[in-house]
Amino acid sequence: MTDTLTVVNHPLVQHKLTHMRRKETPTGDFRRLLREISLLLAYEVTRDLPVTTERIETPMGPMDAPVLEGKKLVLVSILRAGNGLLDGILELVPSARVGFIGLYRDEKTLQPVQYYCKLPSDLEDRVVIVVDPMLATGNSSAAAVDLVKKAGAKDIRFLCLLAAPEGVAHMAEAHPDVPVVTASLDDHLNEHGYIVPGLGDAGDRMFGTK
Ligand code: URA
Repeated sequence: MTDTLTVVNHPLVQHKLTHMRRKETPTGDFRRLLREISLLLAYEVTRDLPVTTERIETPMGPMDAPVLEGKKLVLVSILRAGNGLLDGILELVPSARVGFIGLYRDEKTLQPVQYYCKLPSDLEDRVVIVVDPMLATGNSSAAAVDLVKKAGAKDIRFLCLLAAPEGVAHMAEAHPDVPVVTASLDDHLNEHGYIVPGLGDAGDRMFGTK
């Protein structure tokens, strides 16, 4: 991928996202919509994966058929909200390796605090997609990409549902080599670091917590 920011303006994505944003949308619907959108976003973030061909036999004869080239994809979920995107993408790419990074946001400083990191080995020659629904300040996202880079990854993409201009700018500055794919570039962050108009706290809405 070469573009720093890709906004997936597909009508299905936008329609489903509008339902997710509504404050009256219940937890079950929110989770289902996130899973559905994640399939469509996964299509976009994987569109340039390298492909090679394999000789196969169809019932009609031989064919050099396209298959994914290289090692298995790696998905890295930023806990806990990242898991909502992860589940959908895994339906599309079931053989992907999966890593988890636990970061919570200190509500006063808005800085990320790491409490967990488990990544697959052998990241150097794999495409790594880091997933978190909300790219807000960009602090957690940039910290997660730092960890993935320290573990050796070179080809990294960042996938989110919503992005704030502040988060996109932060990522572009900290990791200009990491393209960001999102369903929407929202207006701004409020004083608590929440995306406006946004959808509220993605983790709470996904898991029914407060
Ligand atoms: N995290 C969320 O869940 N929502 C926001 O708006 C910002 C960060």
